[in-house]
Formats: sequence, C-alpha cells, structure tokens
Amino acid sequence: MSTPGFDVRRVRADFPILHQEVRGRPLVYLDSAATGQKPQAVIDALTRFYTHDNANVHRGVHILSERATQAYEDARESVRRFINARDAKEIVFMRGTTEAINLVASTYGRKHVGPGDEVLISAMEHHSNIVPWQMVCDAVGAKLRVIPVDDRGELRMDAVDALLTERTRILAVTHVSNALGTVNPVRELVRRAHAKNIPVLLDGAQAVTHLPVDVQDLGCDFYAFSGHKLFGPTGIGVLYGRLDVLEAMPPYQGGGDMILSVTMEKTVYNRVPHRFEAGTPDMAGAVGLAAAIHYLESVGMAAIAAHDQALLTYATQALSAVPGLSLVGTASEKTGVLSFTLADVHPHDVGTILDREGVCIRTGHHCAQPLMKRFGVAATARASLAFYNTPEDVDALVRGLHKVREVFQ
Ligand code: ALA
Repeated sequence: MSTPGFDVRRVRADFPILHQEVRGRPLVYLDSAATGQKPQAVIDALTRFYTHDNANVHRGVHILSERATQAYEDARESVRRFINARDAKEIVFMRGTTEAINLVASTYGRKHVGPGDEVLISAMEHHSNIVPWQMVCDAVGAKLRVIPVDDRGELRMDAVDALLTERTRILAVTHVSNALGTVNPVRELVRRAHAKNIPVLLDGAQAVTHLPVDVQDLGCDFYAFSGHKLFGPTGIGVLYGRLDVLEAMPPYQGGGDMILSVTMEKTVYNRVPHRFEAGTPDMAGAVGLAAAIHYLESVGMAAIAAHDQALLTYATQALSAVPGLSLVGTASEKTGVLSFTLADVHPHDVGTILDREGVCIRTGHHCAQPLMKRFGVAATARASLAFYNTPEDVDALVRGLHKVREVFQ
C-alpha cells in the first residue's frame, strides 16, 4: 500500500510518542478519533512559547505581551487559511468543539429559537451536538427534530426536506461521524437549508483531521473543531462563524477582553471575534494549534486524505475477514473509523485484550448513545486511523482480534 507523495515512515518519525513499547510490545495507536498524537513541531512550539514569549495578550505594552499577542493573532490567521475562511475575524478561539457548539446554542440559539420553533440535528450526532440544543429547546419550549440514519450509517437524505420546515431555526449536523466514520453530504445539506433561509452549523471535529476543509465552499454559517484531535494541544478549539452572522450575535461569557468599555451602568462589547473570547485565552494552545496546522500543510491534506482512504480500504478488508466481526457503519463515503462488534464478546473485553497486545482502541458508546440505540447495540469497539498509521498497525489489530476470539471460544 503506497500513496504517491506520502511517506508514512517519515511522518511517523515526527511523532515521538509512537516510538515506545507498551506491555512489552510496540505501541499501536488506533484511537486518533478520541485524540490525535502530537508531532515534535507542536511540542517544540509550546516549549518555545513558554520559554521565550509567554505574556498576557492584548493587554501589556511590553515586548513580551507584544510577541504573545502577535503569536496568538498569527495563529488565528493560520486557522483562517487552513479552512479558507474569508476573514480572520471569523475565527473564534474556544476550548474545543463542545464549547464552540455551546456558544452557538446559547447565543444564536437563545436569540433565534422561540416557543414552538424547531432545531434540526441528525441521529448520528455526538452528545456535544445534541445536549446543547436540547438545553435550548427545553428552555424556550422548542422541539428537537432528528434526521434519521439508514442501516449503513448514511443520513436519510430523502427525509431532510420535510424536516426543514418554516419553524426550523437552525440545522446542526456533523460533517463526519465520530462513531461510524460516515462523511455526510454537508454541501447538499447547506444548499437545501439555505434555500429555506435556515442557517447551518457543522461539527467538523472528525472531518478536519482527514479531509481538506473549505468553509466558503461548504457555505456553512458555523464550523466547529478541536485542536487536540487535529494533532495540536488540548484545551484549544475553533468556532468559525460567517462574519455577518457573528456580528449579529450577543456575547457568550462576560469578562475581560470581550469589552470596549465598562461602567457600572453599561458595558459596550468588543468587536468580533474578541467579543466571544472573555478572559485570558489559551495563548500557548493557539500557538500549538498553528504549529499543528503548519505541520499538516507541510505534509499536505490531499496526501493525508489519500493515505486515509487507502488504509481504510485495507483495514475494512482485513477486519471483514475476521470471523464473527461485524462493522457498524458501512457508508459509501467514510473516513478511517472502524466501529465493530465481535460475536457476543463485550466491546470492553475486546478493548482490554487488545490493550494487552499493545493495541489502543476505544470502546463504549462513543458519546453517541442515540446512534448506538439506532443500531441496537449498547457499545462498539472502535479503531480509528490517522495519517501516521500503517498497514502493519492494522495487521496488529487483526492479530489481536484473533487472540480475543481464542480467549472467548
Ligand atoms: N469525541 C471523541 C471520540 O469520538 C472523544 O472518541
């Protein structure tokens, strides 16, 4: 298996964590949908920031504050370029995808969703794109409606038009499912929603790591993702919002940096995006995220996507040959996520035995309990691939699964 213009050995050399033994075996990390590993460039950027540039941003007149502010705002520009937003003001730094969706739900949502209105999501959402909307709906007396998913794990596009009603105030849907790997036809969803003047939020947490993303091409109003899944630091994430939409939104949290002036009678809020970034932000996190983005750009997102597809094909074939294994999520368009059950072995036992073999996967409901219910399972085992994974990693997984079968026979 080889992808032109992509050398997985060279990529792996950049990830120090991958070169270790665990439980007496070489580490095989197949849990990148939970969090991505960090290239040395990201680790170095964090060390450099704390060693040379650390100071609070937007506040001091001194040289360190100037440098930290510059680094923070440069990071915003790197994110803008990475997702091809029109303007760096459209990039709001958040703690992660969860906070980004909560921001939209509690500002845009509280302003525009009223009694009797509807919020449309899908049956394959992560809890972070369900619960914030339930909270808005419960608070105002609105209704949460759900696009169903078929047996392969694809959205029932035939059901969408009827669910986009004159009461729908927003469509919030995932670009790529964390539990199934399905790539949703989000451009088409945006087109259909916009035809009815309904704004669209896309949860991009699992998409940005696998695919080139262009928010102008997608046409969405909001796009959310996390730094830690994108091989950057934990605690930093991004909300993209179209500038006119962000500018019309009330603030999120109150505090320093989100104001232009404060008296005891009245506060004038800051301009976008600072209006949504109350308090000292995660400056080092933003710098580390920018380093991750620069690293990904140097490898090339198109090459990463091609490697992902080749490895997914290899892994799908290899897993399908394991007796008793059934894949949950067989959409025609997928990224490198393989959710499965193995005969009647509990997924937790699968994960524990694989761990003894040095193979790290995730087991459980993957923060998508309604989706598990849709497929009639309480949990699955999930192997998730990143661009540093190899066919040998997949082979180790398969060997581990045969061990599981031996133990439970
Ligand atoms: N949302 C992350 C996952 O899918 C944690 O594992």
